[in-house]
Amino acid sequence: MEQKPRPAHCLVLPYTMQGHINPMHQFSKSLVSKGVKVTLVTTKFMFKSFQQLSGSMPVEAISDGFDDGGYVSAAQESYFSKFKEVGSESLGKLIEKLNAAGSPVDCIIYDGVMRWVLDVAKSFGLVAAVFFTQACAVDNIYYHVKQGLLEVPVKKRVSVPGLPVLEPLDMPSFVRDPSSFAGSLDIFVNQFSDISEVDWVFCNTFYELEEEVIQWMSKQLRVRAIGPTIPRKYLTNQKTPEDDTDTGLQIFKPNIESCMNWLNEQQDHSVVYVSFGSLAELDAGQMLELACGIKESNKQFLWVVRASEEGKLPKGFVEETSTRGMVVQWCSQMDVLAHKALGCFATHCGWNSTLEALCLGVPMVAIPIWTDQGTNAKFIADVWKAGVKVDVDENGVFKREMVQQCIREVMDGEKGKEIRATSRRWMEMAREAVKEGGSSDMSIGEFVGSFTRHSE
Ligand code: UDX
Repeated sequence: MEQKPRPAHCLVLPYTMQGHINPMHQFSKSLVSKGVKVTLVTTKFMFKSFQQLSGSMPVEAISDGFDDGGYVSAAQESYFSKFKEVGSESLGKLIEKLNAAGSPVDCIIYDGVMRWVLDVAKSFGLVAAVFFTQACAVDNIYYHVKQGLLEVPVKKRVSVPGLPVLEPLDMPSFVRDPSSFAGSLDIFVNQFSDISEVDWVFCNTFYELEEEVIQWMSKQLRVRAIGPTIPRKYLTNQKTPEDDTDTGLQIFKPNIESCMNWLNEQQDHSVVYVSFGSLAELDAGQMLELACGIKESNKQFLWVVRASEEGKLPKGFVEETSTRGMVVQWCSQMDVLAHKALGCFATHCGWNSTLEALCLGVPMVAIPIWTDQGTNAKFIADVWKAGVKVDVDENGVFKREMVQQCIREVMDGEKGKEIRATSRRWMEMAREAVKEGGSSDMSIGEFVGSFTRHSE
């Protein structure tokens, strides 16, 4: 009797930050749905949280050298170099263990910021696939820096193939100011070291959204757009019971019930949702301008202020605005964006937040703070026309009047209507991309097909 080939086995290694875990977890689910065996690999410190959150997907742990969690206090550069040193050995041992246990590994998909995983994959003769969590446009900028085609710091307007003309403020902050957050530019540029040895390059985007830049990048590398990596239930009506309970892999505990109850009481399209993601830290001045801009817009609002940021809220703000606003420490963002009460999303333009808003057709007020957010904001306002942008200067300063004006423009103005219609078109295109036979679904299928043959 002909023997059925065993399913291919992929290790998936996300970097353990909120904005990096979810996309790779959702991508892993797409692979599983196409018959691949996926094992998620995280640090020993995060192991238990991953186990609780990953459903039926197996999880294994490697050491990053900070098994008790002390990494929080380590400087970024020393954390990355420790992780590389300890993690390389620990990952090698894990592969040997799985191979010996009759579950041989065929492929490793790693977060680009953990570039050292490529060396481990190649030393075991495995297929190596890198996963970029940011926009393909942003990846292309870092690729140009790596190739020596873009001189940093960028001080004047530049042309990069596949992208519109970009001003310095449209650039990732580390490219504009390499000295900020020491080591960060190197981490992103280093994603492209020995990139020709990588078998697949996955970008969390969809072809229709970034067509030009994807086309250009595909001429250099084996780039495939496989996104948006949003839980299925928000993208399709054909969901399974397991999809129903999936709100993503959350590190912070969301305040689901109270947010939803509050939103249920609001009129359709009346609420401004405000969130700056899991990392951005505003200074007291930025917080004041944002709070005043929200308040003076006179709109209903739901504002996520993480526990670590709460102390910066202007005194009395919560009490003064309690009749029309709600401040929470964390919410289930996808459920909030999907709610019919939502009118717009005032966002820092983290890539996940940007994709989530596009996928749910929610217009954006872009207030970029750092890293890739300036580039995302440029695309939101000028290329995709899915929102408006607040002017933020090179020191991160923005004005309450402009926050207020942008909120009103999107919520009330004629331009707002156009933006809402355009946002809905993006939502439809995102849904098409992940549908069976859609652009991202086909890319995932191509990868799975090639790699299944490889494992036979
Ligand atoms: C970071 C960077 O800042 C971002 O620019 C980069 O593109 C990815 O890594 P982060 O700042 O956390 O991410 O922003 P973002 O990418 O938007 O991710 C935040 C995630 O947290 C989103 O998936 C969002 O849905 C989720 N979230 C946020 C919640 O579930 N609840 C909240 O209350 C706030």
